[in-house]
Amino acid sequence: MSEFAPRVFSGVQPTGNLHLGNYLGAIRKFVALQESHDCLYCVVDLHSITAQLVHEDLAGQTRSITAAFLAAGIDADKHIVFNQSRVPEHAELAWIFNCVARIGWMNRMTQFKDKAGKDRENASLGLLAYPSLMAADILLYRATHVPVGDDQKQHLELTRDIAQKFNNDFSAKIAALGLGVPMQVGEERVDGFFPLTEPLIEGPATRVMSLKDGTKKMSKSDPSDLSRINLTDDADQIARKIRKAKTDPNPLPETVEGLKGRPEAENLVGIFAALADRPRADVIAEYGGKPFSEFKPALADLAVSALAPVSTEMRRIESDPAEIDRVLAKGGERAREIALATMKDVKAIVGLL
Ligand code: TYM
Repeated sequence: MSEFAPRVFSGVQPTGNLHLGNYLGAIRKFVALQESHDCLYCVVDLHSITAQLVHEDLAGQTRSITAAFLAAGIDADKHIVFNQSRVPEHAELAWIFNCVARIGWMNRMTQFKDKAGKDRENASLGLLAYPSLMAADILLYRATHVPVGDDQKQHLELTRDIAQKFNNDFSAKIAALGLGVPMQVGEERVDGFFPLTEPLIEGPATRVMSLKDGTKKMSKSDPSDLSRINLTDDADQIARKIRKAKTDPNPLPETVEGLKGRPEAENLVGIFAALADRPRADVIAEYGGKPFSEFKPALADLAVSALAPVSTEMRRIESDPAEIDRVLAKGGERAREIALATMKDVKAIVGLL
């Protein structure tokens, strides 16, 4: 067991509309974790300039993600809500991690390969170094738990690799300065400065798939808007997208195992289960053997009743951008206090005067 105080950190990029995948895979979990943990939730604006430098309205997108956090039920008084660029120590620690991480580690990241495409030489250096900034986001607060969707798993493994290499490379200095925290690494009990963060990737919706292709992830960047349900969609749009969602011709299976090899059915059942907060077996017990023509309207009703209150509240919050900026400024100040304390120790460990 780690002896670091439990702390949750997670981030969302301010690029494109938030969709059902972001909501079920991440934001809803952020909300739930507030009951049991101290949490920091961050709109990671520095990450969003890695794939595309110029955005039409980056500041507006940052406010809009903040509004979504608040509308979903994140309490910015009890926890910390801020945007990344307000706390310059993210970039500072990322630089040090650029010197800890190896180029080979970065080259292996599937998200880098996907985003860079065939012309890797032409991708920004920031896109390659992205995971090192992500590790800095988390470790600046020495966060122990990170709720994310399945697509971030590899980045979190890399975060652990960076923490572990830093702890090893500087072990003598960490010990000499008395900055080590006892923790378990495999069979061994060691002292480290950074925790080995645990990803929290659980439940039936860790990877929500496209409504148009059950083998592709639901994504902000898919050119077809019919592939995703946006947090800002109204009831008619949600119902229409679910009605038009791709399915196979068979009725729903009678068992959960029967979903194997039927990606679209599996995805819709997973979405239903997550929205209803029920196990998939429960959903199959109710809808097994029934045709999609019966299942889809029930799913649409459920999606509308879960998302409509969030999108209504989001619009209300977005109508007062000055208030959103106040929330971010206050959150930024609180985050920065922790960040400065970490950087003071990191600098002492590395030997930066
Ligand atoms: P981003 O902005 O792409 O997505 C935000 C969160 O939504 C999850 N997600 C999904 N979950 C289930 N099904 C999907 N189809 C789906 N699509 C997205 C993501 O896994 C994520 O949890 N690199 C991160 C942002 C980040 C971060 C961090 C996260 C930067 N620093 C530190 C955690 C900790 C990203 O691009 O997420």
